[in-house]
Amino acid sequence: MSTSEMSTSVTSAAAAASTTASAAASTTASATAPATATATQGAAPTVAAAPSRAVSMTINGQAVGPFQVPETLMLIDYLHEYAGLTGSRLGCGQGICHACVVILDQPDGTSVEMRSCITGAAYFQGKKIRTIEGHARRNAAGEVIALSPVQQKFLEFYSFQCGYCTPGFVNAATVLLERLARQPIAKDQVESVVTQALDSHICRCTGYVRYHRAVRDLVLATPGLTRDGGRGKPEKSGSARPESGTMTSTAGGAMISTAGGAMISTEGGAAKLTEHVAAKPKENGHVK
Ligand code: FES
Ligand code: FES
Repeated sequence: MSTSEMSTSVTSAAAAASTTASAAASTTASATAPATATATQGAAPTVAAAPSRAVSMTINGQAVGPFQVPETLMLIDYLHEYAGLTGSRLGCGQGICHACVVILDQPDGTSVEMRSCITGAAYFQGKKIRTIEGHARRNAAGEVIALSPVQQKFLEFYSFQCGYCTPGFVNAATVLLERLARQPIAKDQVESVVTQALDSHICRCTGYVRYHRAVRDLVLATPGLTRDGGRGKPEKSGSARPESGTMTSTAGGAMISTAGGAMISTEGGAAKLTEHVAAKPKENGHVK
């Protein structure tokens, strides 16, 4: 609802309340006397101001804020409405699909996934996060000049169709690669570790196989992520839940976007994506 619509609704509600109070006053005078007096005086309805707080954080290496935001604001709305970063996708809005995942860089050097639809912006006060906009390399003009290895691999495997889930998958795969760089796994663990890392991400288009293959290929092709020999004990999956600041967003409506090329989420990046896909040879109607 827009501000003007909301304003109109509040005004209408006040008028209705006033009318109701007047009607009630005419039939039950003693019980409704205070309401009648209020309506007669035409006192404006008072709406308590929502509590707010200043929130600032580092996003993709840049200091953002402080912005004075409602205390109940979810991170995804902070990104979209205050930081101007619209690449993170709101899917279910209930913590289920993981389309909205961003990366939280922790003080100990590890990184974890965070669901921005159910985590309050205030939780990230003073913290460092990465969003889908922070993966590709850009020139001084902000134009994409090179995709990240994960983004590139998803293109090569044609892992997505509409792209709505892709920012979440890019972040999940990136967290996995960073974890494996700290603690390599045996090659025979790759299948299960990749499955576990992507397991919570929902894609309604591609059936997951191409995402899985792309990440598996990248893990096996990247030096230092795997080792020969016996099984080690892999770190736990890199997703986290905050101890506090978790709330449920009701921000419906974002599902209407189809967000093609959302993996890059800039116009320049989207153009690059289109060029790349168009240039790939096709097999059975699909890009190889
Ligand atoms: S988990 Fe579905 S939008 Fe956040
Ligand atoms: S490509 Fe995953 S939801 Fe469309």
